[in-house]
Amino acid sequence: MQWKAFHLVSQHESVVTTYSSPQSIEARSELFQRLRTYAATPEETERSLGLFIRGSLLARFLAVAEIYKRIVPLPGIVMDIGTWRGQTAVLCENFRAIFEPLHFNRRIVCFDTFEGYKGFSQVDRPTELHKDGTYQVGGEQYADYLNSLLMLHEKNNAMGHNNGKHRVVAGDCRTTIPAFFEENPGEFVSLAFFDLNSFQPTAEAFKMVHGRLVPGGIVAFWQLTRDNIPAEGMVYVNEILDRYDHRIERSAYYPGLCFLTK
Ligand SMILES: C[S@@+](CC[C@H](N)C(=O)[O-])C[C@H]1O[C@@H](n2cnc3c(N)ncnc32)[C@H](O)[C@@H]1O
Repeated sequence: MQWKAFHLVSQHESVVTTYSSPQSIEARSELFQRLRTYAATPEETERSLGLFIRGSLLARFLAVAEIYKRIVPLPGIVMDIGTWRGQTAVLCENFRAIFEPLHFNRRIVCFDTFEGYKGFSQVDRPTELHKDGTYQVGGEQYADYLNSLLMLHEKNNAMGHNNGKHRVVAGDCRTTIPAFFEENPGEFVSLAFFDLNSFQPTAEAFKMVHGRLVPGGIVAFWQLTRDNIPAEGMVYVNEILDRYDHRIERSAYYPGLCFLTK
């Protein structure tokens, strides 16, 4: 399945916002180049991807695993709100298969416009690379692609005959999340990842998700402590800190990823 290739020309702040040194960026680029030119059969290259995965990306994978392990004893769906290309959702499907292979009702639901940020206002301090439209990947077509990718992972995983349980929902999450809950009145949440990076959508989505979050359930924020992307921090300070009983922690492996337990 294909989707429009305008991801190839789009620029966003993650291209310029980095904590890495020029030397590290250069090494990252060479690692990726070596993956693309590695002299081995496709099967051996596919089997050896760990040769090229950089440590900071591996840390993200470990952090998602760290959080996923906490929800294994809990019932409820996983939401990935601001899924972008869907990497966190794919990781969650694979951790589901590893940590709880018989849990067929752990549905993962991805939310994104797939047309980039939506809902920026002045409090979000928009910039040329960080504003409405940033992170577009091709709209509905990409949503279909991600859906098929998730299904491929399910088919590849243990008990792969049970596939097609996950959902990819395209549109502004301020509309799609309430619509999803209305269409699925018995659905409740064990874990939600947030990565919307604008104040109003994050605040609105948090309220809706928290209403369906089971006791002990987790809401994880990718950018809570980022000073140059203040939305999640502002939502936490203004809307959550003294209004909801919770515990807050940060990931041991990827310190930027913080998570709240209900
Ligand atoms: C920083 S990216 C997410 C990165 C992703 N979580 C990851 O770890 O790879 C932010 C995403 O939020 C989406 N987004 C922003 N505002 C939105 C809104 N109001 N409704 C739905 N998606 C939105 C954007 O389209 C973008 O894909």
